[in-house]
Amino acid sequence: ISPKYKFFREQGLRPERQLPSALIIGVKKGGTRALLEFIRIHPDVRAAGSEVHFFDKNYAKGFQWYRSHMPATLEGQLTIEKTPSYFITREAPHRVHLMNPSTKLLIVVRDPVTRAISDYAQAISKKIDMKPFEQLLFVNGSIGSIIDTSWGPVKLGIYSRYLSRWLKFFPLSQFLFVSGERLVLDPAIELRRVQDFLGLKRVVTEKHFYFNSTKGFPCLFKSEGHSAPHCLGKTKGRNHPYVNPVVLQRLRDFYRPFNNHFYQITGINFGWA
Ligand code: A3P
Repeated sequence: ISPKYKFFREQGLRPERQLPSALIIGVKKGGTRALLEFIRIHPDVRAAGSEVHFFDKNYAKGFQWYRSHMPATLEGQLTIEKTPSYFITREAPHRVHLMNPSTKLLIVVRDPVTRAISDYAQAISKKIDMKPFEQLLFVNGSIGSIIDTSWGPVKLGIYSRYLSRWLKFFPLSQFLFVSGERLVLDPAIELRRVQDFLGLKRVVTEKHFYFNSTKGFPCLFKSEGHSAPHCLGKTKGRNHPYVNPVVLQRLRDFYRPFNNHFYQITGINFGWA
């Protein structure tokens, strides 16, 4: 039992589980874990620790099941969950809308080229005999051919396509687009936007972060589960494999029109070259 709950109990307050009012729906490898760990420092935020996969894999289990996977909250506390595959799940927008049409939706987006390599780095860490990136990227396995848009790491980076599906159910004002790049460079600025969007007091600030030069990422001085400084785990901030610059350029050219479309829809230029 955490000190927070000991306190609640002593006050005669009984926490209850609630369905989430905010979701981090994506994108995979965008920095979703970092965002969740950072926002849950806030005393008025309670988060499900692991990905619940309700709106994709576990929907048939029902909303009671989903609620039972949420942490207990007190009045005034916000429940949040993150499962990055929601963003790309066809049925998810409708299902989330059925749960609560005013659900706040957060999406961490990152340059789709880097995101694709990050996705591949994760895949190869689980399966050592993976073919090289270039070989999987092109339809005929070589740079002379076209990019394989059915390959997951490529397909997921076409953000505008997935976002359009969500926009059939939710107005743009219900989304917050968090820059994965800025979440690394200046987490406090992104967290200020997140807290404002969620209607929270600005409690998480630059005071909570320090840059760990060994890790190469911002880390936390303390959080709910840790009183000592700590970084995200080893699976966050992996080394990326070398990719030939010519290949990178092909990928950049491929994404350019899709990125521009995404900037147009969101009204934000994320500046991916
Ligand atoms: P890499 O491992 O490719 O660097 P997700 O949590 O959505 O899977 O995203 C993982 C990515 O979060 C990492 O990708 C990393 O770049 C990014 N990230 C953002 N802030 C981070 C932080 N403070 N510590 C570690 N990784 C962070």
